[in-house]
Amino acid sequence: MNPMVIESPVTKVSEGRTGRLGGPPVRASSWHERFLTKFKARRPGAYTFQMTFKTVLAAELNPIQTNAWLCAGVAPRPIAFASTVDAKGVRNLAPFSFFNAFGSNPPMVAFAPNRRGRDGTVKHTYLNATATKEFVIATVSHAMVQQMNVASAEYGDGVDEFLKSGFTPLEARFVKAALVAESPFQMECRLHREVELGTGPGSGLMLIGEVLCFHVDEALMKGELPDPARLDQVGRNGGAYYTRAFGDALFEIAKPAGQPIGWEALPAVLKQSHLLTANDLGRLANSAELPDLSAMAAKAGDPTDAEGLEKALQAALRNEDLGEAWRLVGLRVKG
Ligand SMILES: Cc1cc2nc3c(=O)[nH]c(=O)nc-3n(C[C@H](O)[C@H](O)[C@H](O)COP(=O)(O)O)c2cc1C
Repeated sequence: MNPMVIESPVTKVSEGRTGRLGGPPVRASSWHERFLTKFKARRPGAYTFQMTFKTVLAAELNPIQTNAWLCAGVAPRPIAFASTVDAKGVRNLAPFSFFNAFGSNPPMVAFAPNRRGRDGTVKHTYLNATATKEFVIATVSHAMVQQMNVASAEYGDGVDEFLKSGFTPLEARFVKAALVAESPFQMECRLHREVELGTGPGSGLMLIGEVLCFHVDEALMKGELPDPARLDQVGRNGGAYYTRAFGDALFEIAKPAGQPIGWEALPAVLKQSHLLTANDLGRLANSAELPDLSAMAAKAGDPTDAEGLEKALQAALRNEDLGEAWRLVGLRVKG
């Protein structure tokens, strides 16, 4: 049965510069940003755009379709490479991207080895973790993805999935389940609670675990913590897509300093710019206070035209030179 699709039930009309996408550092524009630019080109001078949403009713989807929609939108998801043992001590290893951390005092993580969408049967990881009340969660780095994929296949009872996938088991400190020698970051966990989220095919079986210890490859430490730039972690997106947190894909954002001035405090002329992106404006809106724009002085070599000023302002923002950015805002506002 095809899901019921409601075309255009919601029309969102946004004033100003909302809807522009792209994260710092902005290099190539995203598909969505290019779409919006085209849209604006067709409607020159318009600062209002319409976004049409397609709405799919969850109740009309079967479990396999529902899973596909969830995975498309809840992405990228971190991957728990869960290591468990069965009652006979046979090792099991499988990836689960319905996974996250949920508390730090005590430290709690949860992942969901769910009932199979096909027939509602349960997975080895679920059986092992609930029987032994413990598991190891290993991070998947990019160097591990092909072997991880091998581990994700459905093997019969009693198959050692370390052997199948070629990963190296290492003795853990607190639990019987093995560590994965190739993984740069791992957690030994004790089962805290199991939460059943339904009984039919595809329903959730969430396992919450208390973290007993963290292990990290010492070579990847930066000061007191693992270096995000060198863990090379992989996440799961919709379909068969993955994300690699590496190189330019990683970026930093300054935390809001107290209560930022907010979007509404930004001069209208900036919100109407065709050059400044929503991220540029968002960076300004994150300022701790609104400087006196009338006091901003010009310097030799400053551009004198609106576009030149906005380009210089954008460059200052992307260099994280907020003082210079506000000076240029002052000049731009003066016109
Ligand atoms: C990257 C990735 C993420 C996955 N995430 C999940 C998940 O969150 N929940 C789930 O039930 N299955 C998930 N799977 C499928 C399981 O890994 C697969 O069913 C596996 O065979 C389970 O193994 P087991 O029976 O040894 O526990 C995922 C597979 C891959 C490749």
